[in-house]
Amino acid sequence: MTGERSPARGPVSFPGFPPGPPAARHLWEGLQGLNDLRRDVLGTVRQRFATYGDFYFAEGLDVDVYSTCDPELIHRVLVTQARSFHKRTRDLEVLGRGLLTSDGELWRRQRRRVQPGFRHEAIQRYASLIVEETETTLSGLQDGAVLDLRQTMMQLTLRIVCRALFGQHFAGRSARLGRAMAVLQEQVLWPKLFPEWLPTPGNLLRRHMLAEVDKEVFPIIDRGGEPGSLLAELIAITDEEGAMSRQQLRDEVVTLFLAGHETTALALTWALYQVALQPSLYEELAQELRPAPASLVAVRPHELPLHERVVLETMRVYPPAYTVPRVAAEPVDLGGYRLQPGAEVWLWIYFMHHDARWFPEPERFRPERFLPEAEATRPPNTFIPFGAGSRACVGRHFAMLEAVLCLATLLRRFQPSLVSARTVPLHPRITLAPARPIHVRLHARS
Ligand code: HEM
Repeated sequence: MTGERSPARGPVSFPGFPPGPPAARHLWEGLQGLNDLRRDVLGTVRQRFATYGDFYFAEGLDVDVYSTCDPELIHRVLVTQARSFHKRTRDLEVLGRGLLTSDGELWRRQRRRVQPGFRHEAIQRYASLIVEETETTLSGLQDGAVLDLRQTMMQLTLRIVCRALFGQHFAGRSARLGRAMAVLQEQVLWPKLFPEWLPTPGNLLRRHMLAEVDKEVFPIIDRGGEPGSLLAELIAITDEEGAMSRQQLRDEVVTLFLAGHETTALALTWALYQVALQPSLYEELAQELRPAPASLVAVRPHELPLHERVVLETMRVYPPAYTVPRVAAEPVDLGGYRLQPGAEVWLWIYFMHHDARWFPEPERFRPERFLPEAEATRPPNTFIPFGAGSRACVGRHFAMLEAVLCLATLLRRFQPSLVSARTVPLHPRITLAPARPIHVRLHARS
């Protein structure tokens, strides 16, 4: 947190609970509270951390909700006491029982099966398609062209994930799949006032979109995945438990498709926004690219260390997964309190990354924070854009490779400048998006 901190206990405290805002007195007040949170979730949570300290409690409509931005508590939930928590699957039905939303033995088995496809050495084979798709995106652009950053990066990462996952170019089926997933994601933030079985317009739209996803994904699976694609590898897996069922394949494909494009697209959007804001940063990046080989396909992220640091600093300031929830699976002690089974704990990566105790002048974009000597002085577990522990992002090496190569390919040809000097507010949904389109003008560089 950047502001002054209050003492550990705030004005309202529950016996046996950490301090926190007063409970709603009736349903209407509860719904209003939820709506305030939805309207300005970062502002509300920032205010609560400033008032109640790094670990606070807020009684939800039907669930106890704890929130923390304390590195040690976050580390406990994700790493040392991870067995006492499971994933929160509410609102993520579209992912079925894929890697992101499953737990226990099923998750362990699937992670063991999927992980090899994402090792360092394995993902380097995707470098050429990453560079190729970025070049295709840039090919029609002339000096002075104006881009909507988020839209362009979303299209680009969708094309990349489709080729890596399915071995197919983004068109037809994958475009319809992308649209259905986008609608389902938007719905996550709508307040759920009615049970799912009621045929309300929202519920009908959700059912329709879920059916659309299945209509697009099953035929892709049934065709078997193009050789060399992740899908082909997943289909080919046979271990002591046999092959993956058709439904399990569907859940993994939908999960990788969703988890694999929006987060990276946002990291790229915000990185390019910062480069457009700071011409001197662009010059330093261009300098790093001068000796790089003509084709970037064989380059690894650490061979472009400034590009890598810019991506890391981007994920500090704008962590795409800005908050990570868990649900207590059993009675569990955390931060001096006993959480009951079913209680939710929200781990606020965004506020940990913006805490002046770990990152001086946290609002300033300073890639040099990730120089080895600076990293060595930072307390452990304070920077976790990809999560931590056994549930940390399986696609993180892929994401880093993709972000660095896309950034370098684009910056080698163009210098971006902002079309409007207006600041860009944040729009937190499942991920941390810009609240308005960011337009940049591209200036051709030789
Ligand atoms: C900048 C890009 C990315 C960011 C910031 C990011 C962030 C994260 C985070 C924070 C988690 C942990 C969530 C939790 O603990 O509940 C996660 C999990 C996951 N991510 Fe990523 N991710 C990115 C890119 C990708 C890519 C490219 C893929 C796949 C192609 C991917 C697939 C997954 C999957 C499958 C999981 C679940 C892993 C498990 O529970 O075993 N992510 N990601």
